[in-house]
Amino acid sequence: MWVNRLNLMSILLQLACANSLQQPHILLMIADDLGYHDVGYHGADIFTPNIDKLANDGVILENYYVQPICTPSRSQLMTGRYQIHFGLQHSVLFAPQPHCLPLDETLLPAKLREAGYSTHIVGKWHLGFCKYECLPTSRGFDSFYGYLCGKQDYYTKEVSGFLAGWEYSEKFKGYDFHDNLKPAWEGNGTYSTYLYQQRALKVIQDHDKNKPLFLYLPFQSVHFPLQAPQKYIDMYPNIKDHNRKIYSAMVTAMDDVVGAVVNELQKQNMWNNTVTVFSTDNGGQTLQGGNNWPLRGRKASLWEGGVRGVGLVHGAGIVDKGRTSTELMHVSDWFPTLLHVANATTSGTKPLDSHNVWDAISSKNGHSPRTELLHNIDPIFKRPYGPTPPMTPYPNKYGVNTLWGHTALRWLNWKLYTGDPGYESIDPPPTMYRNQTVDTTCLVSGGYHPDCKEPIKAPEPVPSVRLYDITADPSENVDVAKYFPMIVDQMLEKIAAYNKTAVPVSWPGGDKNCDPALQDDVWGPWM
Ligand SMILES: *[C@@H]1O[C@H](CO)[C@@H](O)[C@H](O)[C@H]1NC(C)=O
Ligand SMILES: *[C@@H]1O[C@H](CO)[C@@H](O)[C@H](O)[C@H]1NC(C)=O
Ligand SMILES: *[C@@H]1O[C@H](CO)[C@@H](O)[C@H](O)[C@H]1NC(C)=O
Ligand SMILES: *[C@@H]1O[C@H](CO)[C@@H](O)[C@H](O)[C@H]1NC(C)=O
Ligand SMILES: *[C@@H]1O[C@H](CO)[C@@H](O)[C@H](O)[C@H]1NC(C)=O
Repeated sequence: MWVNRLNLMSILLQLACANSLQQPHILLMIADDLGYHDVGYHGADIFTPNIDKLANDGVILENYYVQPICTPSRSQLMTGRYQIHFGLQHSVLFAPQPHCLPLDETLLPAKLREAGYSTHIVGKWHLGFCKYECLPTSRGFDSFYGYLCGKQDYYTKEVSGFLAGWEYSEKFKGYDFHDNLKPAWEGNGTYSTYLYQQRALKVIQDHDKNKPLFLYLPFQSVHFPLQAPQKYIDMYPNIKDHNRKIYSAMVTAMDDVVGAVVNELQKQNMWNNTVTVFSTDNGGQTLQGGNNWPLRGRKASLWEGGVRGVGLVHGAGIVDKGRTSTELMHVSDWFPTLLHVANATTSGTKPLDSHNVWDAISSKNGHSPRTELLHNIDPIFKRPYGPTPPMTPYPNKYGVNTLWGHTALRWLNWKLYTGDPGYESIDPPPTMYRNQTVDTTCLVSGGYHPDCKEPIKAPEPVPSVRLYDITADPSENVDVAKYFPMIVDQMLEKIAAYNKTAVPVSWPGGDKNCDPALQDDVWGPWM
């Protein structure tokens, strides 16, 4: 009897382990501000052998979209929902704002943890931190190592915050590097990319092999400030442009971490059972070394250069490897897709705006259920640098106010813009750059510094409704709105319908009590 019981128990235990082992480990790496033309496999002049290898052995996503800036992309990644549905449709969260990704949203790590995963974030959060309840460890992560704000010095981990997004009068400074709830002072002085590598390897080494692992690795790289260890800069003696040279070094430093993490997963015998996603969070910032050639626009614009993302998937469960997928996918789709991969459910979430695209990733015969993608409706958009061009209204029977805001909708091959999509130009490929050194006083986060001496040209007038055929014209050279009035009409109707479902923007002014001086010069929850 005893023997039988023990046997039964061990069989049950084995079954439980076998089941959990069938849930693959998930490695989700997000690069910050990595442009379309900034990886080797897109023909960039940058060494990214490890990313290229994942791409070539996996599935390269070539009809894949992210949001044009940081907080929005990360909020959609974490919730599977459009930002118009939780009030973060405007800008990013700035350090002093008493707000975070609303607490009634269910996040990806919480759902994965529910399904038995160990969940770790190593890197950038940028979804708000005014209260403890907002922190990554309160929202589904077992551990957090990294920083809370949007941008910082790669070595000192210092962040400057402005009281309100567009005001430069009152400025706070503090240290922003944390190991769970404690400041990680040992981070001061070491290049963050190295610190994240060290911690990612430790998480993998310490991982309990009976459980599946979710490692979320949102790099600081390659967001400005332009800082890189000299050995990486020395790899680019032929790049003349100062910004591009440093930026390239930053990308290669990050690529080395990708290689080290893969290597460690192999060493720990986990790699064969790992699904890896590598994605950017938005398009490249061409003022700071990034490049999106041949796409139009850049970071913070709704043009393809702002939202068409570098993205790839590698690993366990992919049937047809080594191919490119042109199925339409969006950063919000990782939520249901990775939950599917994890054999977890989406139950208990608010209504999703995303799709499980695993079939389209795994199989060359699979299709994405997505035919439509709302890039955004931001009613109070302001260009980060320079003025908005003058526009003429486009009368329509759906009540869409085409003059104001910042709206784009993709439907099949069509993309319709109303209002101001942001920075209009197609910046040349990096090989054509002059030695550009941007006056960094112009580039304070959140706006154009009033002391900046760079002259700003008055922009040319533009139509307030524009239509492009993205499949035929990915560089968005030809506005075809006047040739397809019926398409414009249908898409305006869709925009009006989305707009009806939008909640008001939550983007509060800064709170003086955030001042790190009140908490040992450390950025952290203050409410
Ligand atoms: C997936 O989940 C279902 C329902 O919870 C469970 O019965 C099944 O064994 C799981 N499969 C794997 C491969 O883990
Ligand atoms: C970081 O280290 C530098 C050099 O040792 C020091 O001057 C600075 O005060 C440190 N920063 C913090 C926030 O401790
Ligand atoms: C480019 O500009 C930087 C900063 O002014 C300067 O240090 C560098 O020498 C310049 N490079 C070339 C190739 O002119
Ligand atoms: C992982 O997959 C490779 C290629 O199929 C195989 O050679 C190797 O033995 C596998 N390793 C493990 C631990 O299963
Ligand atoms: C969306 O709806 C709001 C509230 O009714 C309105 O003020 C705004 O102009 C609409 N946006 C567009 C793009 O029509």
